[in-house]
Amino acid sequence: MINVALPKGRLGEKVYDMFERAGYECPSIKENTRKLIFENKEKGIRYFWVKPSDVSIYVERGSADIGVAGKDILLEYAPDVYELLDLNMGKCRMAVAGKNEFYDDGSRTLKVATKFVNIAKKHYASKCRDIDIIKLNGSIEIAPILGLSDVIVDIVETGKTLMENNLSVMETIVPISARLISNKSSFKFKTEEIEKIVKCMKDQVRTDD
Ligand code: PRP
Repeated sequence: MINVALPKGRLGEKVYDMFERAGYECPSIKENTRKLIFENKEKGIRYFWVKPSDVSIYVERGSADIGVAGKDILLEYAPDVYELLDLNMGKCRMAVAGKNEFYDDGSRTLKVATKFVNIAKKHYASKCRDIDIIKLNGSIEIAPILGLSDVIVDIVETGKTLMENNLSVMETIVPISARLISNKSSFKFKTEEIEKIVKCMKDQVRTDD
């Protein structure tokens, strides 16, 4: 049995559809229930829904053999897992944004609000820029508006949230997409099954955008 941690939410549903198209269907998952675990014994696959930012924890610790996590989470928490495949979905970018009129003249410590503390620290360390990190858990865009920070480091997908709050992207740090990841010992002991999944999933990756 291969245990798969799926990110709960809209992206997770698309990811499941991809597994389905790849031949790993589990019809009960589409029943509108509050159940979190679904299995198809015949196909030897068990899915469970977890919070997107927790997928890599389940995979790293072996509760899931494989899972799908955003590159943002992989960069931020650096879990000890294998990254097997870029699914080319859930695409967005990690960016620095600020008020439209903000200009960083470098004269004082830059106040940076973010959920992604490690990504932000690494980004500014590479530029030798002194920063004061303010860790937030959501609605990051509000920080520069209220003067809590000068800039934010956050995910930008359509750019709508920034635009509607009179903020704009100042720099793109890294492009983000969903990745298929594997637990290291699962990969060692269930190589054949996992490689088969990777191959079937690869055939389903859309490269047209
Ligand atoms: C993310 C991100 C932005 C928004 C960007 O928030 O933090 O707020 O999506 O999307 P857009 O460019 O399409 O407007 P999320 O919905 O994950 O909620 P959060 O406020 O908890 O971070």
